[in-house]
Amino acid sequence: MTEKNWWKESVVYQIYPRSFHDSNGDGIGDLQGIIQKLDYLKKLGIDVIWLSPVYDSPNDDNGYDIRDYQKIMDEFGTMEDFDALLEEAHKRGLKIVMDLVVNHTSDEHAWFVESRSSKDNPKRDYYIWKKGKENGQPPTNWESAFSGSAWKYDEATGEYFLHMFSEKQPDLNWENPAVRNDVYQMMRWWLDKGIDGFRMDVINLISKDQTMPEREPDPGKELVSAFEFHMNGPRIHEFLHEMNQKVLADYDIMTVGEMPGATVEDAKLYTGEEREELNMVFHFEHMGLWNGPDGKWSNMPWKLTDLKEILSKWQYGLEKEGWNSLYWNNHDQPRVVSRFGNEKEYREKSAKMLATLLHGMKGTPYIYQGEEIGMTNVRFPSIDDYEDIELINWYNERLAQGHNKEKLMEAIYAIGRDNARTPMQWNGNPHAGFTTGEPWLKVNPNYININVEAALADPESIFYYYQQLIALRKQEPTIVHGKFELLLEDSEEIFAYTRNYQDDTLLVVCNFTAQNQTCELLNLSAGKEILITNEATDTMHTLSQFTLNPYEAFVYRLT
Ligand code: NOJ
Repeated sequence: MTEKNWWKESVVYQIYPRSFHDSNGDGIGDLQGIIQKLDYLKKLGIDVIWLSPVYDSPNDDNGYDIRDYQKIMDEFGTMEDFDALLEEAHKRGLKIVMDLVVNHTSDEHAWFVESRSSKDNPKRDYYIWKKGKENGQPPTNWESAFSGSAWKYDEATGEYFLHMFSEKQPDLNWENPAVRNDVYQMMRWWLDKGIDGFRMDVINLISKDQTMPEREPDPGKELVSAFEFHMNGPRIHEFLHEMNQKVLADYDIMTVGEMPGATVEDAKLYTGEEREELNMVFHFEHMGLWNGPDGKWSNMPWKLTDLKEILSKWQYGLEKEGWNSLYWNNHDQPRVVSRFGNEKEYREKSAKMLATLLHGMKGTPYIYQGEEIGMTNVRFPSIDDYEDIELINWYNERLAQGHNKEKLMEAIYAIGRDNARTPMQWNGNPHAGFTTGEPWLKVNPNYININVEAALADPESIFYYYQQLIALRKQEPTIVHGKFELLLEDSEEIFAYTRNYQDDTLLVVCNFTAQNQTCELLNLSAGKEILITNEATDTMHTLSQFTLNPYEAFVYRLT
């Protein structure tokens, strides 16, 4: 395995452009707004920016429905603005990774407009068209990720097209070599501009099982998630290897594939270096901790031992082959401090603890905008305050089935994607300094206290703690390369592990509770140096028996 790659030593910061910073007062974040904040990101110390989609889109799913891959969304600016952003980022030594959404396009993409126009159009086979069943039902009983059937009937030609997401996001037919070549060409066009890589949206869904499998729905349900049949589909490795050989291998870039349902064994195949596919994957296992009969909306209680089991399995599994990506947050997930921490009296303490845990592990860490100031989930009083298609469709479907409104709202407060999408909180001015106009989605009312300006003015802030963690990764090869070993496997309160590289050993200990915890780490050598702690005083505990304060976290070097 090549030990040194820039993307192994980097920290990535994800920007959701719509909610990051608005430069022209239309209430929607934009590219010039991002340019204005590059110095802020530089100060934080990150290396790479991942931009959620900025392409032309009718915004049924906030840009994940692309109408034109080679045009910038009007609300975000122009291609000149994009070029300026790339240049300004590069000037500061920051790289830019683009979102690549090629499982599907918008139904307004020129390919689809042609495809749906007639059965013999040359683009017909760019998408997945099927006849309905003889009984008038859709071709299969597959469910879309955004509720309802994954098939939409199209009057013009009397056939159904597949959409695993919204009906404005028809799935591309990757079996068709012309589709693949068009996608590769588009990727090269962006790479030739000088971008530094791709985050690939639901990329392990692109190879569809051509046998059109079905099964009986679970009790009480009418449909079966389409994902179930197509995750890691039959030709996925062939397609990604081909993409690698035809495009990726020619550039010094980083690639990360978003992969629902990917296991450690899958990830070895996707990211093993000799296999020439991708650099890393985003798996969903730790985000699935609260899944139950109603998927993520079940909001089941989670256990620390389960979180440990998952994260350590990935650490051990990719120790020799492949590479991990490390994340708590993104634009699809609730805020980590609200999920795994304590958003009330221990917000800052627990946000720092969670950051220590993640940034201490092996892999490339991702920070989602606002995570570095401890932004929290939001509770808007009315469903009308929400914008996310997934959440709204789910709510309406459940309401129609007779579910209790308050309970539905509670699930949205805990899990809904808009928790991550409320505008970035820059200062205590109206709309948190995000815009001078009306924001497209309301700001979290806690911006008065939680904002960048306040964080920058406080040397003890979460921001400076992230800055320190990022700097540590640059100084300590053990944080990048060290072998992970889990300690205290059975504890429901403390997450502890070591990292070892050559003759250096680091110890990471995190208290996940609001109580003091006694910690016993009997077989370790003594602590030699504190690398970081979220405690106000820098006194080192005497290993091996000691008491942790609520949400205490530290990294020690051992002798
Ligand atoms: C995953 C993206 O992260 C999510 O925001 C989007 O809705 C779906 N893929 C569909 O593109």
